[in-house]
Amino acid sequence: MTLKEAMVERHSVRRFTEQKLDDAAVSELQKAIDECNKKSGLNIQLILNEPEAFGSGMAKYGNFENCSNYIAIAGKKNADEICGYYGEQIVLLAQQLGLNTCWVALTFNKSKAVYELNDGEKLLIVIALGYGQTQGKTRPSKPIEELCTVKNGEMPDWFKSAMIAVMLAPTAVNQQKFHFTLDGNRVEAKTSFGFYSKIDLGIAKYHFEVGAGNADFVWAEED
Ligand SMILES: Cc1cc2nc3c(=O)[nH]c(=O)nc-3n(C[C@H](O)[C@H](O)[C@H](O)COP(=O)(O)O)c2cc1C
Repeated sequence: MTLKEAMVERHSVRRFTEQKLDDAAVSELQKAIDECNKKSGLNIQLILNEPEAFGSGMAKYGNFENCSNYIAIAGKKNADEICGYYGEQIVLLAQQLGLNTCWVALTFNKSKAVYELNDGEKLLIVIALGYGQTQGKTRPSKPIEELCTVKNGEMPDWFKSAMIAVMLAPTAVNQQKFHFTLDGNRVEAKTSFGFYSKIDLGIAKYHFEVGAGNADFVWAEED
C-alpha cells in the first residue's frame, strides 16, 4: 500500500478487536518512532497491552472499545505542529501495516495513561492503535475552494493533488481550520484559532507533502 493509498484508506477507528499487535508490525512501528524522535525532538512512545487509559473492564469508554495499545506523544510546549507532522507519519505507516488508528486529544483517561516525560515535556496527545472491528468510514470534507487559494493563474495539477491529500487529513472534530495559499512556488499554510488546530495543521502539511510528490515548492516562512 502506497502512502497515497494509506491516506485514502485511513479513517478514525475507535472499536478494536482483542487481537494483539503482530510482532513484525510492532518492530516496524518502533523503528519509525525512533527515527521520528531523532528528527523531531519529540518523545513518541509505543504503549502496548495497557487497557486502562481507554477504560479497562468497561465495555466502552467514550466511543472506544477494546483499545489497549496507543502511541503517546510527549514534547515541549509549542511542539503541536511537529507533533501532528510526525504523528501522522506513524498513523499512515500503521495503516500500511494493516492497523487502524484514531488521534485522541480528549476522550481518554489521562490519569490512567502510561507514558514517560522528560524535563519540560508534557503529553501532547495519544493515538489509539489496533485492529479495527471495521475500517471506519469516509466523512465529508470542506470543498477544495474553501481550503486553498491560488494567487496567480490556474491551479497546477500537483497543487490539486496535494490539496486532495489535505482533504483526507484527520482534524479534531473534523474542523479543517486551515488554509493553503500558493504564490509562485511558495506555499503558505495557516490555521485559525481552534481546538488542537496546530496539531491539525502539522497533520495536513504532511499530507500536502505526500500529495505534492516531487513538485518543486517551498513552505513560506512563518511571520
Ligand atoms: C488533533 C485531533 C484530536 C482528536 N481528538 C479526538 C478525541 O478526543 N476523541 C475522538 O473520538 N476523536 C478525536 N479525533 C478524531 C477526529 O474526530 C477525526 O479525525 C475527524 O472526525 C475526521 O475523521 P477521520 O479521521 O475518519 O477522517 C481527533 C483528531 C485529531 C486530528
